[in-house]
Amino acid sequence: MNREELSFDDYDETINPAPENTGFDTVVETALSRRGFLGGVMSFGVGTFVLGTTALSTPAGASADRFGFEQVAANTLDTITVPEGFEWKPLTLWGDPLWSDVPAFDEATRGTAASQARAFGDNNDGMSVFNLHGKTLMVVNNEYTNRKLLWGNRPDAQPETDDDIEKGMMAHGVSVFQVTPVDGDWQVMLDSDLNRRITPRTEMDLTGPAAGHDLMKTAADPTGTKALGTWNNCGNGETPWGTYLACEENFNGYFSAEDEAHEVSAELKRYGVSSKDWGYGWAKVDERFDVSKNPNEPNRAGYVVEIDPFNPTSTPKKRTALGRFKHENAEVVIAANGKVVVYMGDDERGEFLYRFVSNGIYTPTGSTEGLLDDGVLSVAKFNDDMTGVWLELTPETTGMSAAEISIHTRMAASKVGATTMDRPEWVAANPAKVEAYVALTNNKNRGVKPNAGGDDTSANGVNPREANNYGQIARWVPDAADHTAKGFIWDLYALAGNPDVHSDAYAGSDNINAGNMFNSPDGLLFDDNGLLWIQTDGAYSNEGDFAGMGNNQMLVGDTVTGEIRRFMVGPKECEVTGMCWSPDRRTMFVGIQHPGEKSGSHFPHGGDTLPRSGVFAISRKDGAVIG
Ligand code: FEO
Ligand code: CA
Ligand code: CA
Repeated sequence: MNREELSFDDYDETINPAPENTGFDTVVETALSRRGFLGGVMSFGVGTFVLGTTALSTPAGASADRFGFEQVAANTLDTITVPEGFEWKPLTLWGDPLWSDVPAFDEATRGTAASQARAFGDNNDGMSVFNLHGKTLMVVNNEYTNRKLLWGNRPDAQPETDDDIEKGMMAHGVSVFQVTPVDGDWQVMLDSDLNRRITPRTEMDLTGPAAGHDLMKTAADPTGTKALGTWNNCGNGETPWGTYLACEENFNGYFSAEDEAHEVSAELKRYGVSSKDWGYGWAKVDERFDVSKNPNEPNRAGYVVEIDPFNPTSTPKKRTALGRFKHENAEVVIAANGKVVVYMGDDERGEFLYRFVSNGIYTPTGSTEGLLDDGVLSVAKFNDDMTGVWLELTPETTGMSAAEISIHTRMAASKVGATTMDRPEWVAANPAKVEAYVALTNNKNRGVKPNAGGDDTSANGVNPREANNYGQIARWVPDAADHTAKGFIWDLYALAGNPDVHSDAYAGSDNINAGNMFNSPDGLLFDDNGLLWIQTDGAYSNEGDFAGMGNNQMLVGDTVTGEIRRFMVGPKECEVTGMCWSPDRRTMFVGIQHPGEKSGSHFPHGGDTLPRSGVFAISRKDGAVIG
């Protein structure tokens, strides 16, 4: 087993395998009834794809070209490919200084812990632009670090010193920096008093139902209200009151025990915490990552962290009311009744889709402090008749206290019979219509084995394909156009697939064709024009089931007509993740994460240079608005 070659999920599964499914007959039965169900809704391959049947229907004639670009072809080049008339430039790359006294990134040493702590982190993911008093700030998650590259100057790419391990730790967290246009190009403003690095050592407040609970107390924090740091921040969110939400995803892979035979609790196992980390070695430099010594420390990670970007000395807040799981992003919507709704996916095979609804009402002039601490967390159940319901997680429905629900959220969700999903990644709410979309990236275990909690993962309406290696995008419309309603109706906006290789459901829905096919939708975001941007994080072999798909990419979907066009192709071995726009909407910032994760890229500088993750600015050559 080579830890470097395994994905987060695969490594977790190797350590803590789920039981094999014993109900094969049930799987077949469900698959057969699924065919009947889908027959009335959509057909595959050469058939027609009907987007829904009721409120989701496509109006006739709504087919004007809203894209404003010609689709780019799939490719396997080691560069960014954008449509004719567009161009791209790097804004900041892993290791680029945020202050002028920090040495420039050094390919030979890859820097030190001290330089990395004051430079842009690695493997950026979700990001936002904020504007206040004429200042433009970018806030960017740095999800994880590619250890092969970070320690590639050492024998066998293993850390030699504590500083090597610390450097890896400092490559994680959040980077905050001011940007400004210089000669038409956006640049990072070194030394801005707003620049900030948030790392796994930054002090944070724990707020909401779990704050102060016994499960949150550690030797270093007997109050259970102060945590240190954030890491593995994946997708993001923004609140209408100008704060940034960093979502902690695969937080588990950083914990270990000196004694690898140490057995963790069932609750920690459900989250993939074990005595073996993924190779980061943080417990060697900081005992709080040793679960045998600090078994409650993992309970203090896996949250949504709220950051006030324009106050560089503010203390970030871990909002436990939003639940603890492998958070993807946090899509915030203000419902018609003024309540704050946050949609959130738990990105693991067979885990769930969540919704938080605040008890309080948001008003632009009122206090927002408690809004994300006090509310009701629910989990989605998708019925095969294309209706759905949000199941509340309360002491009454789960038999758990409010604090326990906030800490052991996955167990709470398993108790109420929520629908196990094909790895919920980003959720995006349509600004032009009361509806939302979720990327269900893929799930090779669908119909094969239960989730880590033992919940059934037979194929179902919204996750209709067994061993689903392509993924799908589902959408739902809340009842009565109310994001706080209990019920909704749903359909599938797109089933990714390969119509060149398959002629059944694995060919994809009818809006997928040889020209735009992709796999593993992940990042989702609406632009101001109501177009849905889709980023992928999937197989890039360009062979077999994935032949013709090329590298990971970014596409744009018209949610009215269903049409999807490829806008961009990323470099080799990357995923495309994270996006935001300049205030004038003339520049789109896009994240390129882990180019060359298998050593096959030199992006962006070419030659023999190290591949580096980064933020890239895409604009039209004619300077027009893009999105
Ligand atoms: Fe960090 Fe689920 O992607
Ligand atoms: Ca993702
Ligand atoms: Ca992904």
